[in-house]
Amino acid sequence: MLQLSNKRIVLGVTGGIAAYKSAELIRLLTKLGAQVRVVMTSAACEFITPLTLQALSHNPVHLDLLDTRAEAAMGHIELARWADAVLVAPATADFIARLAGGHADDLLTTVCLATNAPICLAPAMNQGMWRDSATQQNCEELVERNIQLFGPDEGSQACGDIGPGRMLEPEQIVAKTAELFSQDILTGLKVLITAGGTREDIDPVRYICNHSSGKMGFALAEAAVAAGATVTLISGPVQLPTPERVTRLDVISARDMHQAVHDQLADVDIFIGCAAVSDYRPAEVAREKIKKDPENSSEIMEIKLIRNPDIIASVTALEQPPFVVGFAAETHNVLGYAADKMRRKRMDLVVANDISDWEIGFSSDCNEVTVIGEELEEPLPRASKTVVSRQLLQIIARRFRAKQTNTTE
Ligand code: C5P
Repeated sequence: MLQLSNKRIVLGVTGGIAAYKSAELIRLLTKLGAQVRVVMTSAACEFITPLTLQALSHNPVHLDLLDTRAEAAMGHIELARWADAVLVAPATADFIARLAGGHADDLLTTVCLATNAPICLAPAMNQGMWRDSATQQNCEELVERNIQLFGPDEGSQACGDIGPGRMLEPEQIVAKTAELFSQDILTGLKVLITAGGTREDIDPVRYICNHSSGKMGFALAEAAVAAGATVTLISGPVQLPTPERVTRLDVISARDMHQAVHDQLADVDIFIGCAAVSDYRPAEVAREKIKKDPENSSEIMEIKLIRNPDIIASVTALEQPPFVVGFAAETHNVLGYAADKMRRKRMDLVVANDISDWEIGFSSDCNEVTVIGEELEEPLPRASKTVVSRQLLQIIARRFRAKQTNTTE
C-alpha cells in the first residue's frame, strides 16, 4: 500500500548542513508514491546542488521568486496551489524566523504564505540556536498558525555540540508526512471506475448508444483521488476533461470496455461500474453503409442484436474479486429492481437512481440516489454529482473496510 500515492509534496530545502539528507528524503517520498517538487533557498544551494535534487525528484527545482522563465512554467502561486502539503526540511532558525514574521522575500516563504495546504517544518540547527528564546517564540507562533513541527531530535550535532536541534531522520519525516493523509478514507487503495455510455456499431456510419454523459463516473474519479486513492477511469465516448491525477483509458464498445476492465483489474481494491453499458450490440456490423433499398416498400428495418458481456457480473465471478459497486438506473420500481440486480450480479453495493426524473437524469449535474447493500438502504439527498460522489465514497470506504475485517477475522 503506497501511503503517499499521487500526493503532491512541495519540499522546501533551506541552508543547513542537514540539507544533504534532503536527497534521501526525496527518494523515500517518491518511493511511497508522492510527486515531489523542490524549492531551494539560495543558502541551501551552498550545501547541496539543485541538480542532485532535480534528478531525484524528476522535476525541475524551483529557486527564484523573480525569474520570469520559472514563473511562466510554474510560478509561486501555481506551486502553492499544486501542493497537498508543504514540507520544509531542513528548516533553519533564519527560515523559521522569516516565516513567523510573515516575510515573502523569497520563493519558499512566498509559497508558504500563499498555500492552503498543510505546512510542516523539520527544524535543524545548533542546540544553542534552538534553545534561544527568539527561536522558541517563533516556533510557538508558527504552531499557533497550525504549522506543524516535525522534531527536532536530540543528539550529536555537526558542530560537535550535543543537544536538541538535530533534524529528524528522513524515515521519521516521511512517516509523519504520510500521517497527514492517514485520515483520507481511500489512502493507499486502487480504484477502477467505468464511466459514460458505450457505442455499438451498426455500419461505418451508424451506431447504437445511450444518453449517458459520464458526469457521475468522472465526479467519482475526482472524489476518489481527493480521498487518497489511485484511480483508473475507463470511459466510453464522452465530452469531459480528464480529472487531475486520474489515469484515463478511452474505449468505444461494451466489448472494448470489458477487455479494458479485465486488463486493469490487477491489485484493484474497489471496482465501481458506473458506465451505462449497452446490453446488446448488432449481431453483424455491415462493412459498408447500409443503403435504403428503393425496391423495398416495407416501412420496417430490422437489426438483429446479440447480448454483450456483463462487465460487472464477469468481475464478481472472479475467484478473488475486488469490492464491487454497481449502478442501477431505473424508471420505475427503482429500489426493487436495484436490489434484485445487486443479488443477481453479486455486487457488494448498488447505487439506485430514478432516471425518470429529468433533474437527476443522465446528463444532469445533480443526482439523488439510494445506496443498497446487505442490510443497508441509505438515501443520499439531491445534490451535485460532486457532493453525491463524496458521500458515496464514504459509504463505499466504510463497507469496504468492514468486509476486509470480516474476511480477515
Ligand atoms: O442490468 P443493468 O444494465 O441495469 O445493470 C447496471 C449495472 O451493471 C451498471 O453498474 C453497469 O455499469 C453494469 N453493466 C455491466 N455490463 C453490462 C451491463 C451493465 O457491467 N453489459
